[in-house]
Amino acid sequence: MNPYMRRLRQRRAAQQSSGFDNSVLDTLATSVILVGADGRVEAINLAGETLLEASASRAIGEPLSEILQLSDEWITLLHQAQSEDFPMVRRGIIMILRSGHQQTVDLTVSPLHGDETPKLLLELAPIDRLNAISEGENLWQAQASLRQIIKGLAHEVKNPLGGIRGAAQLLSKELPEPALSEYTDVIMEEADRLRTLVDRMLGPREQLNKRPCNIHEITERVTQLLAAETLGAIDFDRDYDPSLPEFEADPDQLLQVMLNITRNAWQAMPNDSEGVITLRTRSRRQYTIGGNRHKLVCAVEIIDNGPGIPDELLPGLFLPMVTGRANGTGLGLSIAQMITNRHGGLIQCQTEPGRTVFTILLPMEV
Ligand SMILES: Nc1ncnc2c1ncn2[C@@H]1O[C@H](COP(=O)(O)OP(=O)(O)O)[C@@H](O)[C@H]1O
Ligand SMILES: [Mg+2]
Repeated sequence: MNPYMRRLRQRRAAQQSSGFDNSVLDTLATSVILVGADGRVEAINLAGETLLEASASRAIGEPLSEILQLSDEWITLLHQAQSEDFPMVRRGIIMILRSGHQQTVDLTVSPLHGDETPKLLLELAPIDRLNAISEGENLWQAQASLRQIIKGLAHEVKNPLGGIRGAAQLLSKELPEPALSEYTDVIMEEADRLRTLVDRMLGPREQLNKRPCNIHEITERVTQLLAAETLGAIDFDRDYDPSLPEFEADPDQLLQVMLNITRNAWQAMPNDSEGVITLRTRSRRQYTIGGNRHKLVCAVEIIDNGPGIPDELLPGLFLPMVTGRANGTGLGLSIAQMITNRHGGLIQCQTEPGRTVFTILLPMEV
């Protein structure tokens, strides 16, 4: 008997007592769980088994709290649905399984009538945590507004900064006591520091110096530089599409993009881990970036097996100053995104513990 059929039979046997007809529910992509008034699972459909990493034969009869960690938010929601006898919906709630795996889901809890204390029907739809930021068009728009804001801010900051620095310099020459120039030095140094920061937020000043590029020459350069920097601590896997044609781009700036992303991957690796970074190149046909449809797009994926990006960083991952490291500047990804945008391209990211993928999409106008 094939494994699927065997699983189906086991499920049927386990659920016979619940009197729940699963043949329809099993065809749903949404996970459905029926929880009795006593908090025990009475039925679960196939999608639910997969999502909750629990077979029906194991789950049925168990308290729901044995299958997933019922946080206060979950408990309140379940109680409310039961006591108010009204369906509750919660979008983007975190579900933590007993195994520790986390998943963000849209949850609907519907009380089933007929009993004094209603049973609860839970519908769970997993959401790709990164949908929000990997949705190409949204991300493109957000980046465009961000560039405007940074430009405006930089202008407003740099003008008075020039004045402050100039005044401090004049003042230092007029000081009666040379020792006082310690103070004017601080003003000038800090003004310079701010100016450098603002300049870096603006991204590389140089215009793109486009010429025909072979993407694999750039990825190979990344592996060489990183291997030297990390003293060989990282294993590089290459998965190249050798048929990718050359295309017009600025190879130095693209090198910067890939170095920023690859360095982050390395920095995120625990010291004793077997860090592997995979560089994967592919072409994508008929792909739209920022409203422009391209016949051919080059996709460079930088994949690492590190711990993944913390949830709280995700919404602002590509913003300047967003960092998870004590001595980080939070500029690496912002600059990488800016350079890629200048090429008409986009960087997307997907992450989970053990697998983080940054995808650099570059139009190939050949
Ligand atoms: N591959 C990755 N794995 C885990 N965390 C990452 C990864 N890439 C980026 N991050 C997180 O994103 C943050 C922002 O990166 P970045 O913009 O380069 O700034 P910085 O490196 O200066 O902190 C990092 O501090 C890190 O917390
Ligand atoms: Mg960085």
